[in-house]
Amino acid sequence: MSAAEKDRAGGAPVVLLLSGPNLGLLGARQPEIYGTATLADHVARADRAAARSGLELKHLQSEHEADLVAAVHDARGTVAAIVVNAGALSHSSWALHDALAAFDGIVVELHLSNPDAREPWRRRSVLAPVADGTVAGFGGLGYELAVEAAARLVTDRNRGLPGA
Ligand code: DQA
Repeated sequence: MSAAEKDRAGGAPVVLLLSGPNLGLLGARQPEIYGTATLADHVARADRAAARSGLELKHLQSEHEADLVAAVHDARGTVAAIVVNAGALSHSSWALHDALAAFDGIVVELHLSNPDAREPWRRRSVLAPVADGTVAGFGGLGYELAVEAAARLVTDRNRGLPGA
C-alpha cells in the first residue's frame, strides 16, 4: 500500500525521522554549537509537531550509514515523509543520497546548526539535491519546522496540488 493509499485508508501518514552519527551525544556534544537539549528532547518535540499535524512519527538513530540506507529502503511505499539529520554523512554519503533519490515520498533535510556558516567542508550537502527542502540553523526549533514542512508537503501532494 502506498503512503497516499494508507492515508486514504484512515491510518495517519508516517513521518520517519532519521538521525545520523554522533547525534546521540546531543546535550553533551559541543553545546556551544548544538545546544543542551538531548536527542530524546528533539525527538519528543518532533513527535508533538507530528501529532499536531496528524502524522505518526517514527525515529531511528544510527552511527552506521548502512542502517540509515536500509531504513530509507524500508520506508519506500509505507512512509509519507522522511526528515533526515544525517550529521556528517550529509556531507559525504552518496549511498544515502541514492537511497533518498529512490524514495517516493517527501524528504526534508535538517540541521541544528547552519552548516553554511561553519567550516568550508560543511557547506556542501550531498543530500540537498534529493531533498524537497532544508531546515538549518534554528536549533531545536528546526525539528518542529521540518516536521511541519513535511506535513504540509504530504497534504499538498495527496491533494494533487501542482508543485507538491
Ligand atoms: C549537523 C551539522 C553537520 O555538519 C555535523 O556533522 C553534525 C550535525 C547539525 O545538525 O547541525 O553532526 O547535521
